Amino acid sequence: MSRLVAETPEKNILGTVRKRHWAADYKLYAIFGYPLKHTFSPVMHNKAFKALGLDSYYIDIPIRPERFKRIRRNLRNAPLDGFNLTVPHKELIVKVLDSVDREAGQIGAVNTVLVKRTNQINQTIGRGARLIGYNTDTYGFREALRREARFNVHGKSVLVLGAGGAARACVQALIKEGVRQIIIANRTVSKARRLISDFSRFARKRGARLLLSQSATKGCHLNISGVDLVVNSTSLGLKKSDPLPIKLGLLPKRKLLIFDLIYNPSRTKLLREASKRGYRTMNGLPMLLYQGAKAFEIWTGKQAPIHVMRKALNNVARASRSG
Ligand code: ATR
Repeated sequence: MSRLVAETPEKNILGTVRKRHWAADYKLYAIFGYPLKHTFSPVMHNKAFKALGLDSYYIDIPIRPERFKRIRRNLRNAPLDGFNLTVPHKELIVKVLDSVDREAGQIGAVNTVLVKRTNQINQTIGRGARLIGYNTDTYGFREALRREARFNVHGKSVLVLGAGGAARACVQALIKEGVRQIIIANRTVSKARRLISDFSRFARKRGARLLLSQSATKGCHLNISGVDLVVNSTSLGLKKSDPLPIKLGLLPKRKLLIFDLIYNPSRTKLLREASKRGYRTMNGLPMLLYQGAKAFEIWTGKQAPIHVMRKALNNVARASRSG
């Protein structure tokens, strides 16, 4: 298996498809995304499989969106038992799935797919496979806030930076948790408008208000004095040279929680600057942990070994900081 992992990916995985019989005694999982050099998911899942004595493996498959669009229909024939999607494939996958669970359907983005084979015996791979989509980011986001930050969303006002797939999962979780108000700020304002319109009925039903900020990054037209939590779901912060996703001077000078969904680097410029100003901060590692735990349970039907997964993530985060 280590050779398969080393030689990887895209071509091997999809190229060897027809040769492998599903009587193969191990299970294979993967993450598709681009770029993928930031991902900690393989370490987390492989440690979890090992801890439970499962003969299962998880590999990363970096693949550009143009190519992903071409191969996505063949994924049901790939020798995979399940897979994750990350930027920028979470929305692209939806079209080729056989079914999507309700939460993922509302978000319009899928980060976890279960490949379900009804009759595995005497069956060449691929035949009879159904692809079922889930979004475990909502759960990951909620548990990170609840269990790690001990932050109760109920009745709070939240500023969400970004309007992509991750932002949509956060908005869904916040509304479900009883948030009072969410302000959305995104570089492409039309996308923020679409997000608000897609969630407006759900928000109204739950008594939450969704507001649009014309531009958070430029700092105009923004009334965020009552905000209790700021969530960065943009990719600003992945690169050292990235500017801050918001001018921190705009934020109220009370105790706020600044939650950056980025986990690598572990301390983005946003989190460093926010700490200096006395704000409470959390990075994306807890969200990665809980969304991964949920995906693990969907794939294996077993309870995720959360402590093992947490330890694996902390180790890889430490190594990446010192490397
Ligand atoms: P994800 O699934 O992680 O949400 P995504 O759907 O590609 O990924 O969304 C990325 C988010 O980061 C978007 O809100 C994007 O803004 P646009 O809608 O304007 O593209 C935001 N983003 C990415 N690069 C950015 C940049 N340089 N400045 C500001 N926002 C940026």
